[in-house]
Amino acid sequence: MCGIVGYIGKGDATSVALDCLARLEYRGYDSAGIAVLNSKRLEVRKRPGKIKELIELIRQRPPHGHAAVCHSRWATHGEPSERNAHPHADCTGTLAVVHNGIIENYAELKERLLAEGHRFRSQTDTEIIVHLVEELAKRQPIETAFRLALKQLRGAYAVCLISAKEPHRLFGARNSSPLIVGIGDGEAFFASDVPAILSHTRRVVYLNDEEVVELTAGGPRLMTLDGKPVQRESTTVTWSLESARKGGYPHFMLKEIHEQPLAIEHTLANRLVGDTVRFDRRTTQFLDRLSDDEQLIIIACGTAYHAGLVGEYMLEELARIPVDVDLASEFRYRGSRLGRRTTVIAITQSGETADTLAGVKMAKTQGAKVLAICNVMSSSIAREADAVIYTHAGPEIAVASTKAYTSQLTVLALLTLYLAKKRKQLPAAQAKRFARGLAALPALLERALANEQAVKAVAAKYASARNFYYLGRRHNYPSALEGALKLKEICPLIHAEGYAAGEMKHGPISLIRKGWPVVFLATRSPVYEKIVSNIEEVRARKGECIVIASEGDDHIRCYADRLITVPQTDEFLSPIVTAIPLQLFAYHVAAANGCDIDQPPNLAKSVTVE
Ligand code: M6R
Repeated sequence: MCGIVGYIGKGDATSVALDCLARLEYRGYDSAGIAVLNSKRLEVRKRPGKIKELIELIRQRPPHGHAAVCHSRWATHGEPSERNAHPHADCTGTLAVVHNGIIENYAELKERLLAEGHRFRSQTDTEIIVHLVEELAKRQPIETAFRLALKQLRGAYAVCLISAKEPHRLFGARNSSPLIVGIGDGEAFFASDVPAILSHTRRVVYLNDEEVVELTAGGPRLMTLDGKPVQRESTTVTWSLESARKGGYPHFMLKEIHEQPLAIEHTLANRLVGDTVRFDRRTTQFLDRLSDDEQLIIIACGTAYHAGLVGEYMLEELARIPVDVDLASEFRYRGSRLGRRTTVIAITQSGETADTLAGVKMAKTQGAKVLAICNVMSSSIAREADAVIYTHAGPEIAVASTKAYTSQLTVLALLTLYLAKKRKQLPAAQAKRFARGLAALPALLERALANEQAVKAVAAKYASARNFYYLGRRHNYPSALEGALKLKEICPLIHAEGYAAGEMKHGPISLIRKGWPVVFLATRSPVYEKIVSNIEEVRARKGECIVIASEGDDHIRCYADRLITVPQTDEFLSPIVTAIPLQLFAYHVAAANGCDIDQPPNLAKSVTVE
């Protein structure tokens, strides 16, 4: 969703701020703009389309200054256009704001401001913020006006304000939308996310909801909405700049697919010792306090939800703990009754997904405990949770989640092993086997990746198909959902659906006809024969079967129109291995169709509005 950058300091604000904004491209957007403060006034430039088009516009009439706010907009209120692009200025052009989030009471505020004589230029909810500050600043200093304006807003915001009358200060604030502060040498930043500022500084201050920041080139001053000072230490981010670059790959997605062996190694590091799982002290205390009849509810969105579905199989079958898995967007409105014996496990790469965050907050208000499985350190959900297991996958930039997914599955497997052993649910030999399987994952993923050319050849054969089914059973039923999501996400020309293979006969089979491609997950498992029967049913209707099977399975060869093999592993861990050909297949089909793989239209990496 929208990307925000604010800059103040010794550098050329236009080029520094745009460099940072370009590093937020992965968030998804449809227009971009910048407001630069020079010695006299604010200069605003905006453009629908990509950031490179804004840069082109700026090259013709470059504004220079020492402070700027800029923005990439993912449209919610009002079409993507120049007038709806941020920054939005007040009536006099003295103030400008950029905003990520949704102001739910904007219509009533706008009516009031119109009656007070303010002139609106856009259809956005955002524009009311700048007019509100303008109105309040008639009677009080800008900092107070900013805080009082924020107090009147209902909804989510990360917002930055720049004023021509305050050349040495920027203002920022957040509530349920991400905003961080970066502290450099003689310069300071606001940004939606860490990768934006990594090439300038690694010193970051994470903001909490309803906190306001006055930012000078010397650093931030934090306060509450009531103006009470807030003390917060800065944190040094460990992510390297290189990890946020493409490193020679044509797309971030391909780079991140290939990073999976290393990512999983990092997920396992210091946690799996022999067949013993160790977590940090806070997580261990949290897990050890769970009651014998604890109810686990996993909440997540998109790919992270699919990880949760796999986790349900592992935790229920191996640790014998009842688990419900819910889409966070449904959970938050379900009216479930939670209590002290409920633990909500929130799975999220970004730690900022609006629905998951709202589900976490709701769970806490009802007295439930919250464990987060999260990739981004100190993100909103990580900070809300009672304990966090970080996936340590490194920055994931491509919109399509790949390494975050397999590292989430790895954390769920570690959690399962920990709880299963603690509750004495797993015979020692099985626990050892499972742990050996986990330790072997990085090497198995390398082997699965070595098969890329074979997957690419299959992708080339089916690249012109426009409908796909993905079918799997048990642990690989969520893999079918995930495989289909990957394809439709990055290849908007294609319709793909994942189903539990047993559901075929209850409807979807009616569509199968000659040449309809069906991707089957048919690795060795107790339901192998059932899957083979499902393959037969598709073949009988002249569908094309692309079968992902275990290495060495010669039996399956005669059922498959195209065969892709993966290394054999524990049945419960197989979704981690089958994820690789599913991701590569989606990638190569999209590449063959010339799709915008890292920034698919209409999608955002981190969905920070409801
Ligand atoms: O950051 P999160 O894991 O909370 O994001 C959840 C979904 O938005 C995300 O997984 C989305 O479905 C991915 N783009 C899928 O590849």
